[in-house]
Amino acid sequence: MTRSAFHARALLAVLLLAAVVLPAWAGRNLAFEPYGAVAGGTVAVAMREGDAPGAAFDQVDAASGGALRRAVGAMDFEGKAGTQLDLPGIGAYDRVLVVGIGDGAASPRMLEDLGGAVGQMAAGSTAPRIELLWDGDQSDAGAHLAFGAELGRYRFDRYRSADAGKAPVGRGELVIRTPAGARAGEVYAAQWAPVAAAVAFARDLVTEPGGAVWPEEFVARTREAFAGIANVEIAVLDVAAMERLGMGGILSVGQGSARPPRLLAVRYRGGRGGDAPIAFVGKGITFDSGGISLKDGDGMWRMKYDMSGAAAATGAVLAIAGRRAPVDVVAVAALAENMPSGTAGRPGDVVRTASGRTFEVMSTDAEGRMVLTDAVWYAQREFSPRAVIDIATLTGSIVTALGDEYAGLFSNDDTLAAQLQAAGAAAGEELWRMPLHPSYAEDLESPIADLRNGGVRGAGAGIGAHFIGSWIEDGMPWAHLDIAGMAWRESEGLPTSPAGATGFGVRLFDRLVRDAHE
Ligand code: BES
Ligand code: MN
Ligand code: ZN
Repeated sequence: MTRSAFHARALLAVLLLAAVVLPAWAGRNLAFEPYGAVAGGTVAVAMREGDAPGAAFDQVDAASGGALRRAVGAMDFEGKAGTQLDLPGIGAYDRVLVVGIGDGAASPRMLEDLGGAVGQMAAGSTAPRIELLWDGDQSDAGAHLAFGAELGRYRFDRYRSADAGKAPVGRGELVIRTPAGARAGEVYAAQWAPVAAAVAFARDLVTEPGGAVWPEEFVARTREAFAGIANVEIAVLDVAAMERLGMGGILSVGQGSARPPRLLAVRYRGGRGGDAPIAFVGKGITFDSGGISLKDGDGMWRMKYDMSGAAAATGAVLAIAGRRAPVDVVAVAALAENMPSGTAGRPGDVVRTASGRTFEVMSTDAEGRMVLTDAVWYAQREFSPRAVIDIATLTGSIVTALGDEYAGLFSNDDTLAAQLQAAGAAAGEELWRMPLHPSYAEDLESPIADLRNGGVRGAGAGIGAHFIGSWIEDGMPWAHLDIAGMAWRESEGLPTSPAGATGFGVRLFDRLVRDAHE
């Protein structure tokens, strides 16, 4: 064997080995370089709608002797936002991905969508180096591009066996070329990489089947994710601790499962000390079979994502603590598995919650609001927060109302609601405000207990919100987000959310904290 053939073989062996032993989440290296000419390989450029597609586009077009413009013209591609054109063999380029960005001004959200489109392409490509060219002069453009790329290239490969012998997909380098050069990389690492990692943390938990992540396992993965992050305290209530506090709400949901419930609190102190935290309270049903009010089989597998609220709340604190934000926040996750069995709670049972208030169970499938009673009570009593925001895959009714465009927002506080809506618009996780009509109280009257948990037709999402709101103290700013339609995207992904778990809420809460509290 010649020396170079030996080297080539050794290199191949290393690459193959790397493809097998790398952890499931390992992807392309993100690199940051100055904007400049790129003569070949795989590149991505934005295309503005209208007469001037942009300097990066022009540069690649000139280098390809006008082939890019001809290809774009032949395909009638106009550069509308949300469109893209994937072109093989343009001039000396192996592949040019043209991403439409519309005719609006560059915004963080637009840059993240552009990065996301490139990230999704990169995740499925074997090219060793992919370069995204952006000539705009916004100082943190490179950071937003990278953030979008990292979100867009998310994959969950834990349960796939390695394809031995095949070229590794989604490895190599993804180069962000902007005028900010390597400086963009510093901004990205400090400000956005922790948020992207937190979104991936939430997506992983949501994607994992109910058989793999149960309440204690959720806690274990949370401890792992927070290891080494400063100013964080994790507290976990087990069944005995919850019994001492009289938490019948969460205990009655968990009692049918062989895997006991947990209440998890993750407190991050980044403020000056003595600041009241914002409390994010998440519904964490690791699997929702409906319990004795069993769901029908059709699509029941989806209920593995019924802990998306808990993943988002915990993930948001991971993002905020990870970037060392100067604020105080706490996540409270109400973790339980809703199963039918001889020990399960029944329809008709009356449950006493930690607050002392009781409710009558009309349906064991309305379990989200049941676990949240004790979780919001605990958040208020334990942490004296300045606001409580709960997040839950609570009702099918919100999916009927808002589809997968908006999460439902219910709030007793117009300022908090407006801040959340603004944060959602900026982060690309949008909220539509829904009413909390006083008449919902009548729908929740029980003949034998303080309240009942369902069993009425009508404004399902609003009635659920009202039920949770009944456990909020007077004067406490509170918002409830029903994310049943947003936690999972079936097939059509978004640039920064490939199909599957979205991690909805992490970016929203991170943005809320940045804009309203830092
Ligand atoms: N987890 C479901 C809600 C859900 C539905 C989430 C679809 C995601 C997609 C929740 O626990 C539930 O079963 N809600 C019932 C409430 C009813 C029994 C009052 C519903 O929406 O039908
Ligand atoms: Mn349910
Ligand atoms: Zn549920």
